[in-house]
Amino acid sequence: YRSLRVALLGGGSVGAQVARLLLEEQEELALRVGAKLELIGIAVRDVDAQRTVDLPRELFTTDAESLILGADVVIELMGGIEPARTLILQALGSGADVVTANKALIATHGPELFALAEQVGAQLNYEAAVGGAIPIIRPLRDSLAGDTVQRILGIVNGTTNFILDQMDTTGATLEDALATATALGYAEADPTADIGGYDAAQKAAILAGLAFHTTVPIDSVYREGITGVTAEQISSAQKAGYVVKLLAVCERVTDPATGIEGVSARVHPAMVPRTHPLAAVRGANNAVFVEAESAGSLMFYGAGAGGVETASAVLGDLVSLGRRHVAGGPGLGESTHSELPILDISSVSTRY
Ligand code: NDP
Ligand code: HSE
Repeated sequence: YRSLRVALLGGGSVGAQVARLLLEEQEELALRVGAKLELIGIAVRDVDAQRTVDLPRELFTTDAESLILGADVVIELMGGIEPARTLILQALGSGADVVTANKALIATHGPELFALAEQVGAQLNYEAAVGGAIPIIRPLRDSLAGDTVQRILGIVNGTTNFILDQMDTTGATLEDALATATALGYAEADPTADIGGYDAAQKAAILAGLAFHTTVPIDSVYREGITGVTAEQISSAQKAGYVVKLLAVCERVTDPATGIEGVSARVHPAMVPRTHPLAAVRGANNAVFVEAESAGSLMFYGAGAGGVETASAVLGDLVSLGRRHVAGGPGLGESTHSELPILDISSVSTRY
């Protein structure tokens, strides 16, 4: 029975929830991994900042570089390109596995990071980078790896979906709805990334790369945000039986001029018929609608943003990495929990 040393970079909306769960669920997580997950510290900019979660003061440090030395797993939840990129490279270089939710970094520097991880035999997991709590990275990378994905239609930004939904249902202005989304912890540190469609474009690049087994440079993703969407457009769409959504569309295409087959990814506001499953995606929820040759249509749906929801995906990545560290850890078919009794239920309710 070993202990895995976990260094956390960032203690904001997501990081604070990850830290809380690591401390509160320590015993349960140890059972699932087969080793204790020991939180050795949390790197932040200001150790004295007021936090939404009460965490032991002694865990906080501003010295991220020292913190990652000696960690078995580093969780990067700072956001942005630097210093996140350099710290992840350092962590991988020192032999640690890494978990990140940083789509900006994966979309722009993914090849560099994955190449180093492969070179040193470490893993870099990023399930939370797209769709918050929704499992979508592993399903695309693993479960659908034997199929041919034709198209992905995604609502992949919680903030803009929340704003458009508020404008549609309550008549709120874009500015007021954005202020609420920011207060709820959905928006990026710079919300231009959300309303300008940059965040969704980064996620589209990641999804298209996974779905079509290629690298999709972020510059090749057509991008249009929601700042041009007016109350009048939303109300006319409503009258015509549509709802306005910021969509990420990733598809296999053929160039009509040359006949060359390729892929494309784009992000823009679109009129979605109210009868389409994507029209029912409300608030900060996300959904990824996948059309695959053999599987047909699949929809992955759930909370696309929020601290604790995103922490779920981060911890899933951590448990998965942790199991790799533990020799003789549980196999796919094995139960990892021996404590819960099987109960004899005498009356079954038919109510949902
Ligand atoms: P926050 O802005 O809430 O938190 C960022 C944290 O990182 C803060 O604790 C901050 O320190 C720390 N930090 C930032 N820069 C530095 C630095 N240079 N040195 C040391 N510490 C630093 O971000 P979120 O928690 O919202 O997001 C984290 C990541 O998760 C981002 O990549 C984001 O895109 C991604 N994500 C976020 C989701 C969400 O719903 N919020 C959902 C899915 C992904 P301090 O507290 O002192 O300021
Ligand atoms: N700002 C992002 C969003 C966070 O609103 O979707 C989740 O990636």
